[in-house]
Amino acid sequence: MPNLIPQPVSITLTDGAFSIAPTTVISVPDAAPELTAIGQYLADSLIPPTGFDLQVQTNATSVGYISLALVADPSLGDEGYHLTITPETVTLTAHQPAGLFWGVQTLRQLLPPAIESASPQPGPWTIPTGEIRDHPRFAWRGVMLDVARHFFSVDAVKRYIDLAACYKINRFHLHLSDDQGWRIEIKTWPNLTAHGGSTEVGGGPGGYYTQAEYADLVAYAQARYMVVIPEIDLPGHTNAALASYPELNGDGKAPDLYTGTEVGFSSLCVDKEITYQFLNDVLGELAALTPGPYLHIGGDEAAATPLPDYVRFVERVETLVAAHGKQMIGWEEVTRAELNDETIAQLWTNKHDQHIIGRGGPVILSPAFKTYLDMKYTATTTLGLRWAGLIEVADAYAWEPNDLLPDFPSAKILGIEAPLWSETLEDIKDIEFMAFPRLPGYAEIGWSPQEGRAWDEYRLRLAAHGPRWQVMNLNFYRSSQIPWE
Ligand code: ACM
Repeated sequence: MPNLIPQPVSITLTDGAFSIAPTTVISVPDAAPELTAIGQYLADSLIPPTGFDLQVQTNATSVGYISLALVADPSLGDEGYHLTITPETVTLTAHQPAGLFWGVQTLRQLLPPAIESASPQPGPWTIPTGEIRDHPRFAWRGVMLDVARHFFSVDAVKRYIDLAACYKINRFHLHLSDDQGWRIEIKTWPNLTAHGGSTEVGGGPGGYYTQAEYADLVAYAQARYMVVIPEIDLPGHTNAALASYPELNGDGKAPDLYTGTEVGFSSLCVDKEITYQFLNDVLGELAALTPGPYLHIGGDEAAATPLPDYVRFVERVETLVAAHGKQMIGWEEVTRAELNDETIAQLWTNKHDQHIIGRGGPVILSPAFKTYLDMKYTATTTLGLRWAGLIEVADAYAWEPNDLLPDFPSAKILGIEAPLWSETLEDIKDIEFMAFPRLPGYAEIGWSPQEGRAWDEYRLRLAAHGPRWQVMNLNFYRSSQIPWE
C-alpha cells in the first residue's frame, strides 16, 4: 500500500506499474493555460531527481503519457480529483484546476522517496496502477506563520509554502505585525517598517517584506492553490506601530521598540480619528495587494483596551474591512462584538465558546492545546513554548474537530488551521522542526474522512514519510512515537 497523507477518500490499487521515462509526455487540453501551468509544475518538479525534461503538450495521444483534464463532475467539488493509473497512462481529472493540483501532489507521493531529491537519482520512477477518487472534508486547511516575533526571509516562507502544499494545505495565514515588529511595507506610513520593522525578539535586525516581495509571495502561494491571509493584529499587539507614529498613542508619545515576549500591554488609541485614517490606509493597501477574499485583524489579547472600547473598535474596523471589499477574520475575542454574519472567528483558547456558539457564525478551529505548532513536543524539546501544553505527534493527530464545540452546527466549521508563533524560532530549520511531523496530521484531519481515522494506522503511514523528508533535507523531529523507516 502506498503511504499517502492525507488518506484519500477511496483508493484501489492493482499489481501493475506506470513508469515515468524520458519520453513520457504530460498532456493537457488545448487552450487551457491554467492546466498547462499545473502540467509544467509537475514537469519542473520531476527535472531535478529524474534528469528528464518532460514535455507538456496539448492533447497528446502517444502511449506513455500523463494527462490532466477538467471534467464536469460536481461530486468532486472545487478541490477533488480522480486518478486512474494503467501501465500505459496516468489520467488525472478534476472538476476544477485546484483538484488537478492536489492530484499532482498525490502522484508525487505515489513515486519513490528519491523523487524529492534535488539531484539526479537512478530511479526507477514507477507509480502503482489503480484508481483514486478523492476530495477534502473541510474547505479550510491552513497554516499560520508569525513573521513578526522573528522575521523570516522570502525564501524561507516559500519553502514552508512548498512543504505545506505537499500535504494539500490551502490557506497560508501570515501574521504580519505584532509588538516586536511590523513586517509589511505600507507606502502611506513608511515609518511602520523603517522603524517598526527594524528589530525582533532578542534584538536582532528584524526586517520586512516590500510590497513587491509580498506580491511575489502571494503569487507563489496562488500557483500552489493556496490563499494568503494577511493579518494586522489590532488593537493590541501594536507596539511596533505605536513606536513608529506617536500620534497613534493616547498620550501622543511613542514608546520604545520592544524585543521581549510579553503580551497584552499595547493598544492603539480607539478614540482618535487618526487611528481610523491609519487603519483605512493600511487595510486599503493590504486589500489591494491581496487577491484572496480575507483580511485578518487579529483582535486577540487586547488586555490594554477596555472592553467597551474594544467592542466599538472591532465593529468599526469591520466596516473598514468591508469597505475594502474583504471578509473579516479575527481571533475568537472578536465575538464579543456584534459581528456581520459572514465574519469569521478563529478559535484558539475555548474561552469564548459561549459567544461563538451564541453567534453561530463561521469558525476556524485552532485550539492551542492541539494545533499550536510552537508548543514543545516533550518537556525536553529545546525550541518552542509550553503554556498550552506539550503536543506530541499523537496529541496533534488524535482529535476530532466536531467534538470541540458541542452542539455547534458542523456546517459553520470551515476547517482547521495550525499556527506557528515564532518567539523562539529564528530560521527555516526551526520552522521545519516544529512543523514536522505534526503538520501532515493537521492536513489529514482537514482533508480525510472522519470515519476510519486512527492513530495506530496513521503512525505507520507517517513513518514512511521519514525517508522522503531525509531526501528533502528536512529538519524533522524524530518522535519516538513513530516507527521510522
Ligand atoms: C494567540 O495565540 N494570541 C491568538
